[in-house]
Amino acid sequence: MDMLLLRTVMLTVAITIAANLGLCFCGCASAEYDIDGDCCPMCAPGNHVYWHCTVDTSTTCVPCPASTYTDEPNGLLSCFPCTVCDAVHQLKVQKACTRSADTICEPQEGFHCVKLNKGSCTLAVEHSECKPGQYIKQTGTSFSDTVCANCTYGTYSDGSLMACLPHSKCETMGLTEVNAGTTSSDSKCEK
Ligand SMILES: *[C@@H]1O[C@H](CO)[C@@H](O)[C@H](O)[C@H]1NC(C)=O
Repeated sequence: MDMLLLRTVMLTVAITIAANLGLCFCGCASAEYDIDGDCCPMCAPGNHVYWHCTVDTSTTCVPCPASTYTDEPNGLLSCFPCTVCDAVHQLKVQKACTRSADTICEPQEGFHCVKLNKGSCTLAVEHSECKPGQYIKQTGTSFSDTVCANCTYGTYSDGSLMACLPHSKCETMGLTEVNAGTTSSDSKCEK
């Protein structure tokens, strides 16, 4: 027998013996967890382990208590606490926590999200205000800030308008212009 064949045979024998003794070099299956070298079936999302499995009983699972969750199959002895949508970070609840899914937070009115984690907002900031001489090109949303743009020549806005207004034309009203308009103020007319 050549060396390669001998080695192959010995390896095959070793694997066969290991398999017959129930030894495993591959850890637990994907739906199982390891507890002191033994493999136990995992608990479904929304539950946690109450008793580990034994030789003749499967894992005993119980539902997560109020305000806690597990969102994956697990071998955990307790569930995770639900995230609180923090008013300090300008957040409110979009979707309440369930036993199998954490809370989803969203920005409060007038704020937009600047930090997301797993689809939930963790930090929001207030929308910018447009300056005098600008108009609101796009109002802010939960995920984008206000977009401002300059008024063009001959128009004005105090920053709160969705479009700039044209300056009054004193002459066409039979009046005299005493102050030319700016991008932030109308022209001033007098008799
Ligand atoms: C808008 O106006 C300001 C002040 O007049 C100016 O500094 C700025 O460059 C303008 N922005 C654009 C995009 O034209």
